[in-house]
Amino acid sequence: MTFRGRRGGEWWRRAVLYEVYLRSFADGDGDGVGDLAGLRARLPYLRELGVDAVWITPWYPSPFADGGYDVADYRDIDPVFGTLAAADALVAEAHALGIRVLADIVPNHTSAAHPWFVEALAAGPGSPARGRYLFRDGRGNGSLPPNDWRSAFGGPAWTRATEADGSPGQWYLHLFAPEQPDLDWANREVREEFASILGFWFDRGIDGFRIDVAHALAKARGLPDLGYPADGRSAWGAMIQPWEVESHPHWDVDDVHEIFQGWRAVADAHGDRLLLAEAIVGVPERIARYVGPGRLQAAFGFPFMHSRWDARELRSVIDETLAAFGAAGAPPVWLLSSHDETRHVTRFGRSETAVLGLFGETGEPTDLALGTRRARAAALLVLALPGIACLYQGEELGLGEVEDLPPEARRDPAWRRSGGTVRGRDGCRVPLPWSGAEPPFGFGPPGSTPWLPQPAAWRGLTVEAQDGDPGSLLALYRRALRLRRSHEGFAGESFRWLDAPAGVLHFERGRGLRCAVNLGGRPFELRQGDVLLASAELGPGGLPPDAAAYSTVPS
Ligand code: NOJ
Repeated sequence: MTFRGRRGGEWWRRAVLYEVYLRSFADGDGDGVGDLAGLRARLPYLRELGVDAVWITPWYPSPFADGGYDVADYRDIDPVFGTLAAADALVAEAHALGIRVLADIVPNHTSAAHPWFVEALAAGPGSPARGRYLFRDGRGNGSLPPNDWRSAFGGPAWTRATEADGSPGQWYLHLFAPEQPDLDWANREVREEFASILGFWFDRGIDGFRIDVAHALAKARGLPDLGYPADGRSAWGAMIQPWEVESHPHWDVDDVHEIFQGWRAVADAHGDRLLLAEAIVGVPERIARYVGPGRLQAAFGFPFMHSRWDARELRSVIDETLAAFGAAGAPPVWLLSSHDETRHVTRFGRSETAVLGLFGETGEPTDLALGTRRARAAALLVLALPGIACLYQGEELGLGEVEDLPPEARRDPAWRRSGGTVRGRDGCRVPLPWSGAEPPFGFGPPGSTPWLPQPAAWRGLTVEAQDGDPGSLLALYRRALRLRRSHEGFAGESFRWLDAPAGVLHFERGRGLRCAVNLGGRPFELRQGDVLLASAELGPGGLPPDAAAYSTVPS
């Protein structure tokens, strides 16, 4: 095995991760859904791109009520993706190419089709089987939900179960869809089961896990009301967030850290494995509480991803993130997009460039040329910051959000649950364009139909179309990744800001690698001779607006 990243321990400290949204990466068998065969065939592409590890979204057997984040069996692979043997082969092949593999673990909830939940429904109130989940009696005469919590996908976070004799029964908690019942992490059996699941995959060679909604696992004792005002905050997606209240009863409850200390011990017992939290809890300081010695190794930097294309805002988020993670002794994780957010090419072309909530497809017009220029610059920024960078599949091709999907094609539970008023996240999940002039663009064999329709305009953005073009975004990513790997300037993780006019981010990292990002309206003076790589051609005044460049210390 020849891994290209850091040698020895803690391989993840400065890794470049790549999110594979498995259903949309590559379809090997022609059923329209991405799978392990497709991913295995495209590993050489990822090797050439130069990433250190892939994070693969849930591959477990699932009814797909929420794209696989509803797991029915944590120790197997859904037949739509392949088999356990195919997963083993994928891990071996990726390792042979120097690419590590992270799986996605979903510990907050199972699928309603999980044998535990089926058992819990049958077993009845007060049973040990119900004790693995959060079943409660309803309020009043039992017909009202036990508290006022709301689901992230809209509506109450409680659904009433029907007891075995057909009568309306207890309620169960689901912070997401009703098909995703929340587990009770105060239950010892739940903890033991997940320690065993982690071990199961570590023993198969998995290098780590991305942890789904890590901040949701612990709930406040007694499940107290959140205090939603009667006057409306019950609208879709208007969930009260942890940064809005002093102590939140189901997001970021302090007891969560003790759970992950246990996970870290399991990971450490299996060698150098990475546990990476999805913890959407507000400021970097709060996120950094998930990481450090004896805690998880890393957590996504959502405040950075949620920032506007604005120098002052980005600079302060970078400062806060570096300070918080530096104090915790853990690397930050920088990212621009994911399978849950509007693709950044589209965001950056709008007047409102921040991510708008979790399901932010707004329909606001976007200038894709502007968005793409900024995305090119943002790529250089993300890859120059010290720590971990995480790319979302297709960002290296400059794909935008697909905002005109036909209603009948949409699969996000948010769409259905909101009665079609919230379009949801399908627009960032459209299958990748690899080659050719028309759909399926090499995503699957000719004649196959991808599970979400691809825009005809993607013909110019396929891997094949960009491959030989030195001016393409793909070429820029490849070159930036190569520099990050091999240029001596990138050695070390030190960081300091350099003087720059308002609107420009200018910093030095490692051994003299300089990165300038021009978010202002005027060119930024930069000497051509010192430039290693630029996202746009330098003009007479230097680095144009909405562009970035790497340079060495001027001689
Ligand atoms: C976060 C995942 O990224 C998202 O896709 C999913 O819907 C929720 N967690 C619930 O599992």
